[in-house]
Amino acid sequence: MNGPDTKMNLPEATIAQLRRSAEAALENAYAPYSHFSVGAAILTTSGRIFNGCNVENAAYPSGLCAEAVAIGHMVATLGPMHILACYVACKGHTPAWPCGSCRQRLNEFADTRMWVLTSVMDGLPERIPFRDLLPHHFGAADLEGFRS
Ligand code: THU
Repeated sequence: MNGPDTKMNLPEATIAQLRRSAEAALENAYAPYSHFSVGAAILTTSGRIFNGCNVENAAYPSGLCAEAVAIGHMVATLGPMHILACYVACKGHTPAWPCGSCRQRLNEFADTRMWVLTSVMDGLPERIPFRDLLPHHFGAADLEGFRS
């Protein structure tokens, strides 16, 4: 059952803004190896939106996911902020949810009410509370008492 924290409703206008931002980044995706273009947009609790696209590399593991680039964009611009929503846009046949590594990256900055939304071009967005995507998360709190 979802706690009260996950009941936050994202206004449709905000979802539309996130989608536009993610789809704009998607057009700049650099995916010559997978041919799977992805765009992401994250919304901070302060109401700012940052986007990113996947940036692949000839040395495959050096490639970056769109969500990672969007998080870097946010931190480079504003410093660490809390994220209320992450929108993922792709050109595939089915919507893409953030990969395991990106769930962990998002966890670092996730507000407890954070939503993840995903859609394919011209498709309706699907949405899931982030806590349902990464229920047993490892985060900063787990390191408390271990940092010198
Ligand atoms: N990718 C993302 O950028 N985000 C996701 O949520 C799923 C996967 C990228 C990584 C790689 O460039 C391509 O999609 C295929 O895995």
